[in-house]
Amino acid sequence: MTTFTIKSPFGLSKISIEDNGLQKLGAYIAEHHQEARIAVITDNNVAELYHDKIKSSLPNADIFVVEASEKSKSMKVAEALCEDLLEVGFGRNDVVVGLGGGMVTDLAGFVASVYMRGVPYVVVPTTLLSMIDAAVGGKTGVNLGAKNIIGTFYPAEAVLVDQAFLKTLPERELKTGMAEAIKYAAILDASLEEVLMAKKTDYQPILEKCIGAKVKVCNEDLKEGGLRKVLNFGHTLGHAIEFLSHYKLTHGESISIGIVLANQIAQNLGKQTKAHGDRVVEMLKKYNLPTDLPKGMKLAEVIGMVNRDKKMEGEKVTFILSPKMGQYEMVKLTPNELMKYLK
Ligand SMILES: NC(=O)c1ccc[n+]([C@@H]2O[C@H](COP(=O)([O-])OP(=O)(O)OC[C@H]3O[C@@H](n4cnc5c(N)ncnc54)[C@H](O)[C@@H]3O)[C@@H](O)[C@H]2O)c1
Ligand SMILES: [Zn+2]
Repeated sequence: MTTFTIKSPFGLSKISIEDNGLQKLGAYIAEHHQEARIAVITDNNVAELYHDKIKSSLPNADIFVVEASEKSKSMKVAEALCEDLLEVGFGRNDVVVGLGGGMVTDLAGFVASVYMRGVPYVVVPTTLLSMIDAAVGGKTGVNLGAKNIIGTFYPAEAVLVDQAFLKTLPERELKTGMAEAIKYAAILDASLEEVLMAKKTDYQPILEKCIGAKVKVCNEDLKEGGLRKVLNFGHTLGHAIEFLSHYKLTHGESISIGIVLANQIAQNLGKQTKAHGDRVVEMLKKYNLPTDLPKGMKLAEVIGMVNRDKKMEGEKVTFILSPKMGQYEMVKLTPNELMKYLK
């Protein structure tokens, strides 16, 4: 078992990477929340695959199933879940468990943070993306027109990461998580390159290195005042691409293209060698991730979207570059400058 800890104003958030995650969940709750009621929030795909295991680990839990869709990350669904909790007599010391991918963990974390001003929250991520990113570091949220407009910082008291869930994860979702792993390699941990290029079926080293990198960043800057912005590498343009594809591209596929464009900007600014950029592209290709804008999508449209990004500060956006494997640099650029360096 490998463990990490994030310090937050709400106390410690303990992340453990270990086998038999669902079984451990029951044991964890029995140890830390003996008398508590448990509400498991999950989506229909995960519920179908893991219902019996949830029941055997937490026989008395109420299970609330939302539709497996980004649309479930809404105030409407969050409110309905709060109503459900109230109906079953859920109180301040009872425990919300988020079991699923990032959609579920963002939603369940949000509900846990606002229901009765916050109840204990435990998370069991089931996608690679949620294991190495969404479930770690306490960002919760729901969408309101645009993504994550309403949300809180509320780190789960425990994050139980078990790679066994990845056995049932569709290939495309696995790829999406890999784009985030490549992000960590490019800006935070050069030693991930070798691990990712080896493409082994044991995810333990990938989980350890990626979670370790994110924990380090969150411990320095939980609320994204500074350093945490580095995690937006590939995301400023990636988010725009995801939106413009009408979500036909997954988050990871969009980020993959965003990373390639960020590298192009870095090279045109004289801050990255072509050899390093090519190495990153090689990693993305190893996992069949796209590296070009989809047909019909125009660069001007992508840059146009950046103007509406909630992370814009005045005229400029903090843009993250990767000068060398495992290293980052922040530059402030206007959308016009982004366009200039992409030509
Ligand atoms: N809070 C954060 O810091 C943060 C960071 C990154 C992303 N996010 C959010 O995460 C969300 C995306 O998360 P995601 O990529 O995990 O997608 P997701 O939660 O939508 O899951 C993808 C699909 O995989 C299915 N699934 C989940 N686990 C499975 C399993 N073990 N076996 C089979 N199928 C399984 C789901 O039902 C769904 O159909 C977005 O809403 C994004 O905004 C949040
Ligand atoms: Zn991401």
